Amino acid sequence: MPSTMEITNVTEFEEIAKEKLPKMIYDYYASGAEDQWSLKENRNAFSRILFRPRILVDVSEIDLTTTVLGFKISMPIMVAPTAMQKMAHPEGEYATARASAAAGTIMTLSSWATSSVEEVASTGPGIRFFQLYVYKDRNIVIQLVRRAERAGFKAIALTVDTPLLGRREADIKNRFTLPSHLTLKNFESLNLGNLDKTNDSGLAAYVAGQVDRSLNWKDVKWLQTITSLPILVKGVLTAEDTRIAIQSGAAGIIVSNHGARQLDYVPATIMALEEVVKAAQGRLPVFLDGGVRRGTDVFKALALGASGVFIGRPVVFSLAADGEAGVRKALEILRDEFELTMALSGCRSLKEITRDHVMTEWDRPRVSPRL
Ligand code: FNR
Repeated sequence: MPSTMEITNVTEFEEIAKEKLPKMIYDYYASGAEDQWSLKENRNAFSRILFRPRILVDVSEIDLTTTVLGFKISMPIMVAPTAMQKMAHPEGEYATARASAAAGTIMTLSSWATSSVEEVASTGPGIRFFQLYVYKDRNIVIQLVRRAERAGFKAIALTVDTPLLGRREADIKNRFTLPSHLTLKNFESLNLGNLDKTNDSGLAAYVAGQVDRSLNWKDVKWLQTITSLPILVKGVLTAEDTRIAIQSGAAGIIVSNHGARQLDYVPATIMALEEVVKAAQGRLPVFLDGGVRRGTDVFKALALGASGVFIGRPVVFSLAADGEAGVRKALEILRDEFELTMALSGCRSLKEITRDHVMTEWDRPRVSPRL
């Protein structure tokens, strides 16, 4: 097992996390739905996209900075919402918040965090988004969104792929539940902070009980009546839904399959990205998450039209390995790899990354017409 000091890529954190964490917790973080086909495909699809690097470009200065919803960040790599981070490390979301702020990037806090919006805000300055699950009791949603606003969160990432929880068989076998010393902190005062121990996944039972599966596009408009924060629709995979998201007033789209934890046999997000980008017609920014493990993956997503990417599991695994220092290291490795990819591709700024810098299976042979 490598120590954190010896880590040279973010995938290696998983091995350390697996060693350190109880099986029930590691399995919850690692698993995908059912056959886990989409889980493997999220990675495999990146490996089928190749580069068309440009050479002899002066790359002595490279600028990785970008702007997301008007907020300037150090790089187009952000932190996705992942639930229950205190199961990975006692400092949980506090550590992730500090590491993200130190890296100059955005952290998205899960509704199901084991630290509250107020607690995360107390860690100091930093640009943060709040991921929202819509509960059947809309008063809960209204209160929660207000609290996120007051705590200085800058956007709502509305998760739209979870009317019910996907079947994650390891969680069912392990009868997954939240360890008794932890709660879903944002819901503690509402007596909805605990998962019951069931004969199934405790989280699946919680979702079935609390999450509003009637959620639909009208609710995206409703959300805009209760908050002025911009809304990112997280979980879009098609052109059709991209067009409706635009009509519904979304400020941005996150192409996501929930880390392949919901519907199995959806395509890898990197395969769905270009369809969404084309349908968006530049009217709103499109982001991607799912399987991003290398700086080259970040570059590929940007070349196919993403404005930025989010990472999920590398954060929980690096958090488990070494707390805040681990997450800092994961973000630093991805940043360095991405910068190197830009240099070796002849790109000095994100604007210079173009569709022509990559080739995909669905590209026509592009050699002859351009000669
Ligand atoms: C998630 N994801 C997630 N999404 C969300 O909207 N709310 C949540 O609470 C969670 N919780 C969560 C827990 C864990 C352990 C994982 C792995 C994922 C999905 C997450 O935001 C993101 O879409 C994926 O994690 C991206 O894929 P990678 O980077 O994990 O491959």
